[in-house]
Amino acid sequence: MTVYLNGAFMPIEEAKVPVLDRGFIFGDGVYEVIPVYSGRPFRMRDHLQRLQHSLDGIRLPNPHSIDEWEGILNEMIARTALEDLYLYLHITRGVAKRDHPFPKPPVPPTVFVMSNPLSHPPAETIERGVSAITVTDNRWLRCDIKSISLLPNVLMRQASVDAGCGEAILIRDDSFMTEGSASNIFVVKDGVLLAPPKNHLMLPGITYDVIFELADAHNIPHQVRKIMKEELFSADELLLTSSTREVLAITSVDGKPVGDGKPGAMFARLYPLYQTFKKEIMRK
Ligand code: PDD
Repeated sequence: MTVYLNGAFMPIEEAKVPVLDRGFIFGDGVYEVIPVYSGRPFRMRDHLQRLQHSLDGIRLPNPHSIDEWEGILNEMIARTALEDLYLYLHITRGVAKRDHPFPKPPVPPTVFVMSNPLSHPPAETIERGVSAITVTDNRWLRCDIKSISLLPNVLMRQASVDAGCGEAILIRDDSFMTEGSASNIFVVKDGVLLAPPKNHLMLPGITYDVIFELADAHNIPHQVRKIMKEELFSADELLLTSSTREVLAITSVDGKPVGDGKPGAMFARLYPLYQTFKKEIMRK
């Protein structure tokens, strides 16, 4: 497996980062995950824009221009013998003596890229959906930054695994839903597709945008608004979206069925629309 580290491509075994890297010491960095289908990155510009937003959020200058990023990522794709994959980009504030403030003078950031197989959700998961639990969203107030400090997300996702579930749905202030531990969440009620507004309490998902664009293009009623916790339990359907899981139905929450406990009509509409859209992008 070939990875990219600080300007060079190398076998993963040779890629080494010093222990004083601020990513290792402080979790001081940001990341991106970009799916690639048949060698073509999906929404690369949007992902690179979100990366810029994350870097701005932690006050770390972008080490590369968009063109340079595209060059690195396309080379990574070319070096990976996989039909579908996802690119993982990871930038930290670099290597410095352990001290909380930014290194002065600044040190070069650590830039790491790897590719991984993109495993499509199994047919059974698509047909039956996944179960979820609700958990308290105890993260910081800058969840719009795709930070590598993922400890809360890791713990919440593990709580869902411990409960035999496929995702944790995060509830802020014991009152409203923000997103999943590693996904965005949509609610369907009376034929309307609903999702919370993009703000500092959730990651602005690229797949979230695609879903709303598809809803727009196909006259599916949709609305962006705050979603209260109770609405999860009276919803007709729940959906999760992410770059790696695309769109999936959530068919039970905290052990209670969502709607009739099966993927519903909105999922049945959106799933093929998403697949067709993806294929069209791939053909271009
Ligand atoms: N995570 N919210 C959170 C907290 C996420 O971690 C993710 C994705 C999303 C969905 O964003 P997008 O549609 O742009 O993938 C929402 C990636 C897949 C990960 O950490 O592996």
